[in-house]
Amino acid sequence: MVPDREEGRASGRDSTGLRGIDGLRMRRNCAESDIISTVMLPLVELPATTRIRLIPPRDQDLERVALLFGELEPVLLWLGPRRPIREIALELIEKRELPPEGNPDRALTALIQDPADSCLLGVLEYYCGYPEEDCLYIGSLFLSPRCQGKGYGSEIETAIAQAALERGYRWIYLAVGILNWPALRFWTGRGFTEITFVSGDEAFGPGKFAVIELRRPIAGTPDWSPTGGGLRVA
Ligand SMILES: CC(C)(COP(=O)(O)OP(=O)(O)OC[C@H]1O[C@@H](n2cnc3c(N)ncnc32)[C@H](O)[C@@H]1OP(=O)(O)O)[C@@H](O)C(=O)NCCC(=O)NCCS
Repeated sequence: MVPDREEGRASGRDSTGLRGIDGLRMRRNCAESDIISTVMLPLVELPATTRIRLIPPRDQDLERVALLFGELEPVLLWLGPRRPIREIALELIEKRELPPEGNPDRALTALIQDPADSCLLGVLEYYCGYPEEDCLYIGSLFLSPRCQGKGYGSEIETAIAQAALERGYRWIYLAVGILNWPALRFWTGRGFTEITFVSGDEAFGPGKFAVIELRRPIAGTPDWSPTGGGLRVA
């Protein structure tokens, strides 16, 4: 889920302008020559944690990814109009969620599996170097309902941040549906407290959607402060 920065937050686009799994696609608002000003090390290898294994999706994973998105349909309906689940799954497997000038070599798409039985726990997508070169953008982190609230999300986010820090990244970005308050609780609790962009419909109503983009500095970078970040969520 990446807001369309080119069209702007007050563009008044209606919900038919929302595309992709989470309604929106990446668009760069800088000149092509500005895109790679410094060379960052790409973070496309998969961070491992103790309880999960991340593996690249293959064509034959379509059915089980579609089953996962089927379980998550209530969340998907907070993000945009209803779309065929298999189409959403195919987009993930074919790594179609890239910026217009995006380089697939800078994108990671992974199935999150249980190392013991290869059971599918969720999916993860991120892109290295958007919206600036020293930023990492989490496009998707979707866990099966039976795995939520067990610390997997925190573990994965920590692993990504640690690996990103080691490669010189300074910021992690993501976008979340405004109606997705469980995820808002999760991300703000992880320190994503700076709103950098709002996109989608201007007025709330049936069939209307909006997302907010949040960011946090990566702990250990010059931008990070131990007292900053982290909303108190009652
Ligand atoms: C959002 C999501 C990635 C969080 O991962 P998770 O593994 O469930 O979260 P964790 O178990 O690591 O929880 C971390 C913290 O967030 C809180 N939290 C997680 N889910 C929550 C929920 N549904 N409601 C309230 N708090 C929640 C936990 O209480 C925990 O707080 P604590 O550390 O103070 O105890 C996961 O629940 C998910 O995939 N949800 C459905 C899809 C989705 O909305 N994805 C995000 C799209 S932007």
